[in-house]
Amino acid sequence: MQLIQNWTQENRDNYGKQVMVVKHAMNETGLFTDEALAEMLDAHPSHLIDFQHLPDNPEYPDQQVTVDFSGADGATMLRAAKSSGKVWINVREVMNRQPKYKKVLEQLHGELEEHTGKNADRRNCRGGILISSASAATPYHSDPTLTHLCHIRGHKKAWVYPKTQDFLPDAAYESIVLGEVDEDMPFSYDMDAFAVIAGADLHGGEMVSWPHRSPHRVENVTFCVSMVMEFSTRRSAFTNAGMFANGVLRRKYGRNPSWAHASAPEKVAKAALGRLMMKLGTRKTFRRKDLVRFKLDETVEGFVRAVAKPYERVH
Ligand SMILES: [Fe+2]
Repeated sequence: MQLIQNWTQENRDNYGKQVMVVKHAMNETGLFTDEALAEMLDAHPSHLIDFQHLPDNPEYPDQQVTVDFSGADGATMLRAAKSSGKVWINVREVMNRQPKYKKVLEQLHGELEEHTGKNADRRNCRGGILISSASAATPYHSDPTLTHLCHIRGHKKAWVYPKTQDFLPDAAYESIVLGEVDEDMPFSYDMDAFAVIAGADLHGGEMVSWPHRSPHRVENVTFCVSMVMEFSTRRSAFTNAGMFANGVLRRKYGRNPSWAHASAPEKVAKAALGRLMMKLGTRKTFRRKDLVRFKLDETVEGFVRAVAKPYERVH
């Protein structure tokens, strides 16, 4: 069975340059039914599962708060995502760790390579499964890796924006590659008017891909199951290294570099400098403390309750 369907010559010509939606048959693998997902969650190391609650906080609309799910089995986690609660579960690296899923990810990569004629140099191939409730959303962001969103079950809406300075200022992207986790991407709903795709309906069985670094966001309409595949290529690593160097030059040396306006030789030099800086450990090792503020509790409506006193994640 082919996983990618209805691929056209136009898709081949535009892959990596334009936003595109193609059909896929991931659902037919049987790996994304309730039963299979519950079993997959039970088998996955808990440190690779992020279970988050999205509280209704008008002061901080995109807030995601860590939930302690220790003691709950996969079936309960799924029920929580299907309940009236606002829950977002990211099962990290399951597509590259659990053998049944890994086989599917490898097939998907093989087919993509064949269809696009690209990505033969892919590395760090990872894939996570997102299980999220009807009212969940993924806020505006940009990914340093090449990502493809394989939507598998349910109905979502997706927005993808141009990667011009108005939508993705160099300084904001540099923050991402530098690991400045607390930096927010500039976003306002006014930007939707200029999105490349704005609120496009995405149903199970559709895969969306966009040019590297394009900012995007997603809103659920129903309970959803999706798979996000991500990888790097020589080219994406080159851009990230160059912008890493620019980020350091901007922050430590008061420069105002531009990646889009750099000449080819300047890019090569910056990428080499960036790789050296990464090796020397200029990247911030700071990681935000992951504080647990909620506990998964199937006896309450919405399946989560606030803990008396927040504590650091240990599960
Ligand atoms: Fe993303």
